[in-house]
Amino acid sequence: MQNRFYLIGYMGVGKSTWAKRWAKQRSCPVHDLDQLIATEIQMPIDEYITSQGELAFRKVERSVLHATSHLDGIISVGGGTPCFYDNMEVMKALGTTIYLHAGVGFLTKRLVDSAFAGNPRPLLAGVPIDSYGEFIGKHLLERLAFYEQAAIRIAVEKEDVLARLSEL
Ligand code: S3P
Repeated sequence: MQNRFYLIGYMGVGKSTWAKRWAKQRSCPVHDLDQLIATEIQMPIDEYITSQGELAFRKVERSVLHATSHLDGIISVGGGTPCFYDNMEVMKALGTTIYLHAGVGFLTKRLVDSAFAGNPRPLLAGVPIDSYGEFIGKHLLERLAFYEQAAIRIAVEKEDVLARLSEL
């Protein structure tokens, strides 16, 4: 249990990037739940969400999350993972949960940049770019109650993320 860490937080906060940096420093395995899901369903998750709908995605996400009980190391999960079913409880039972927090302005900028770079998030598909800030503000607020259950909270805009992670 001490060797399994879950990085959670809103889309665009940098979970996968920090997971890779920390794993390199720690010399331990790193996993990305979205990639594990893509392997399971044998297609990119964006394509799956668009064709099968979000509910179907959440069901696969839940089952692949349960299967992480066989993995060691650092696991970054999707922004919505902690907010469905008993996923937050499952992660807390299986390892140490770490919430990477950032404010709406930071997240909006990251997600707008990503959309302009041709990599829009499927969940933001119907949202006009100039409404990203409003959407993200409300969405983050809905999700905070789940994210804040994490054992550890790191404010990525204010703290030295790698230094905090290396204390663990
Ligand atoms: C989602 C976030 C995505 C991915 C899926 C749903 C969400 O992961 O799991 O598109 O509900 O916030 P990232 O947080 O890595 O973008």
